[in-house]
Amino acid sequence: MPVRAFIFDLDGVLTDTAEYHYRAWKRLADEEGWPFTRQDNEALRGIPRRESLLMILKGQTLPEERILELTERKNRYYLEYIREVSPGDLLPGAREFLQELRAAGLKTALGSASKNAPQVVQQLGIAELLDVITDGSSVARQKPAPDLFLYAAERLGVPPAECVVVEDAAAGIAAARAGGFRSIGLGPVERVGAADVVLPSLEGVRLEQLLPHLLALESR
Ligand code: BG6
Ligand code: MG
Repeated sequence: MPVRAFIFDLDGVLTDTAEYHYRAWKRLADEEGWPFTRQDNEALRGIPRRESLLMILKGQTLPEERILELTERKNRYYLEYIREVSPGDLLPGAREFLQELRAAGLKTALGSASKNAPQVVQQLGIAELLDVITDGSSVARQKPAPDLFLYAAERLGVPPAECVVVEDAAAGIAAARAGGFRSIGLGPVERVGAADVVLPSLEGVRLEQLLPHLLALESR
C-alpha cells in the first residue's frame, strides 16, 4: 500500500499544549482538593475533556451541572494558558516535516480530540500546511474509537490503509490501529509501544528515511 497522507494529532505532537492541559487540570484539582499528579495526567493524553474529568474523579459521581461547571472552568484556565501560543511553540521538526510532506505531494490532516484545536492551529501559523482540520466537535465517538481519523481520511479522500497517523497518546494509537491506519508513536514505548514505528519526537525526522519502514508494514 502506498502512503498518500499523514494525519497528525495536535497536543503533544505538533506543539506541547499537553503541558497546558496538565496545568489547567492541576489548578482545578488543587482548588477542589483532589489528588492529581503529572503521572495521573499521562493517562489523560488524547482523552476528551469530559472523560478526562471522569477519570480524575476515579468513579466518584457528580450531578451533570457540576460536571459542566468543572469542565468549563478547566477550559477557561486552558484558554488562559494558551493565549500566548505562537509559531515559536511548534515542537522541533514539526514545521519542517509538514513542509516536506507537502513538497512531496502528500496530503496532511489534523486529527485532534481538542475543541480548541482550530484556534491553536491558527496561533501556531500552520493552517496553510494542513489540507483538512478535524477537532473535538467533528465526531461523537472520540479516541480510542477510530471515528475521528476515519473522518479525516474521508475528507482527505484517501483510504485509511494509505494514511499514517502520528500520535503521542496510547488512546490515539489504539484509534489508529482500530481504523486500519499505519501509525507513528511519539514518546516512550510504555506509552506508544503499540505503534508501528516509535520515535522520540519529530525532530530530524525525514520522509525518505521513514518511508521504507512504513511501506514494509503489512496493511492492517
Ligand atoms: C486532546 C488532549 O488533544 O484534547 C487532551 O490530548 C484533551 O488532553 C482533549 O483533554 C480535549 O481537549 P479540549 O481542548 O477540547 O478540552
Ligand atoms: Mg496528543
